[in-house]
Amino acid sequence: MQTHFYGRDLIGDLDFSKEEVETVLDVAFDLKRQRALGQPHPYLRDKVLAMLFFFSSTRTRGSFEAGMAQLGGHAAFIESKTTQIAHGDTPKEIGEIFGRYFDGIAIRHVDWGVGNQYINEVAKYSRAPVLNMQCDIYHPFQILADLMTIIEKKGRDLRHKKMVVSWAYAASYQKPMSVPQSLVVQMPRFGLDVVLVHPPEFRLMPEILDMAQEQARKYGTGFEIISDPDGMEKAFKDADIIYAKSWGAMVHTPDPEEGAQIIKKYSHWITDERKMALAKPDAIYMHPLPADRNIEVTDGVIDGPQSVVYDEAENRLHVQKAVMALTMGGI
Ligand code: CP
Repeated sequence: MQTHFYGRDLIGDLDFSKEEVETVLDVAFDLKRQRALGQPHPYLRDKVLAMLFFFSSTRTRGSFEAGMAQLGGHAAFIESKTTQIAHGDTPKEIGEIFGRYFDGIAIRHVDWGVGNQYINEVAKYSRAPVLNMQCDIYHPFQILADLMTIIEKKGRDLRHKKMVVSWAYAASYQKPMSVPQSLVVQMPRFGLDVVLVHPPEFRLMPEILDMAQEQARKYGTGFEIISDPDGMEKAFKDADIIYAKSWGAMVHTPDPEEGAQIIKKYSHWITDERKMALAKPDAIYMHPLPADRNIEVTDGVIDGPQSVVYDEAENRLHVQKAVMALTMGGI
């Protein structure tokens, strides 16, 4: 068990080794059990986390804030638009100053080509650990919660289980590609054979695909990409895990208008009962939420017996408490 976490950042999924992720999961399961038993677990008494948001959130804000309170500390909710960032406070000021006020700085900044760079720049100047609450490239805490959920549903031995990471149609907005990118990087380390499927215009960043291939090679797992305007059905066949969500065409075109037009071609990429029937009978359906209901996924699937979306959302709380306790509390 690797336990050297104190003071460390979590910005990209590979910042923690596989063994370190296993420690995070062990702690998360323990914290989940303690909460179920009503046992107090104030590992972060008197500690304060800054939560700096450049973008909206339901789950991330709620789970980090509740998590800090349950650990005996406090979380300060700070919307970027209420700060002096627009008037000149640079990432250096945020890192230097918040790093002196707070015991950790959590940031959500999903602007394409900006968010990850911003978080890394804050981390460069912060004496406190910096946690990525989602950027344009990664969503590491979502993927830790997903991994915890998969272990709960499928057991610890995930070798040769087929996980489909699929693009899905959505009408609301061009969603960040951080969830599929973090999934393809993290999941091959835990035995899953990952199949990434999307229409040709929705490819992920080439450097992320290289990292995913490298992890799959290192851990002897599969990583296949299906880039096909009608690839969803082919990919779903015999899957153990279906993780289907929308993301934008940012790699194909930086123009949001053009991206929105491209999305319209693929309204048949909905996860419905017919497509779920192609997967194994005990396959689970996953989505990080929010979902565009009856556009991205039918009510029948997301509210159906194969859906684990609320367990995924709950597990955000437990994995985040584990990482905060380890990085902000231990030695
Ligand atoms: N899954 C997720 O990150 O949800 P929020 O955008 O509501 O935080």
